[in-house]
Amino acid sequence: MSKDVPYTDAQLAAFDLERSSLPRHVAIIMDGNGRWARKRGLPRIEGHRRGVGSVRAIVEEASRLGLQQLTLYCFSSENWKRPPRELSLLMHLLRQYLVEERREIHRQGLRFRVIGVISGLDPVIQQEIAATEQLTAENDGMTLCLAINYGSRQEITLAVQQLALAVRNGELDPQQISESTIASALMTSGMPDPDLVIRTASEFRISNFLLWQISYSELWVSDRHWPEFRAEDFRSALQDFRRRDRRFGGLTTE
Ligand code: IPE
Ligand code: IPE
Ligand code: MG
Repeated sequence: MSKDVPYTDAQLAAFDLERSSLPRHVAIIMDGNGRWARKRGLPRIEGHRRGVGSVRAIVEEASRLGLQQLTLYCFSSENWKRPPRELSLLMHLLRQYLVEERREIHRQGLRFRVIGVISGLDPVIQQEIAATEQLTAENDGMTLCLAINYGSRQEITLAVQQLALAVRNGELDPQQISESTIASALMTSGMPDPDLVIRTASEFRISNFLLWQISYSELWVSDRHWPEFRAEDFRSALQDFRRRDRRFGGLTTE
């Protein structure tokens, strides 16, 4: 049997998980690559390199668990502040991932999507993104969404510009702007909001990630650095999620 077959209910039960209480969409702020490397006396880029292994492991695990979507924060619109050498190595790793993983993503039946300002990336990377999105567009498995050159305030700003333009062109009546109009103007249009946000490396902040979309998401912070984050850590987050009482401003139903 292939190692990425979906888990059965019995396997989920052995993990202290239950299909009906799994999140639909998990979003992860993958943090701590640099600290992981520094602790070992390695250059920061070794942390990023090793982090790709965690990406592979968590994508496979999320897909086996039957999640509808996994979103990974890969590169923020603020990460351009890093030294040129780190930036070029990060972009190299990104390209390598897109090329090397394309077949595997397709084989697993995943649908690949990217959010972020893609036009701000190297044209070669833009092409690799488009190729993977096209190849996997008809798949019906989990959506794997990478946030690349993504910033939530930038996303909201672009959405406001788009709506203002529609109003100016007489295509939109300001009175009709609803929460769903706004959601549809965001880069995540059509995607479910994350039920759970995981951040690694003990940082309790959002760092400009999906501000609109996480209004009612559950948060879970891990003390593991991203390069050492593996399937069992991911399942710990889901076990904890299972016990959360999500009230959405209402009262507990039980
Ligand atoms: C996360 O690890 C990866 C990116 C933001 C690209 P960091 O590079 O932020 O690692 P730390 O936070 O410096 O340890
Ligand atoms: C958030 O991590 C961005 C990504 C994981 C891609 P950062 O390391 O950039 O966040 P800050 O600077 O610590 O807030
Ligand atoms: Mg960091």
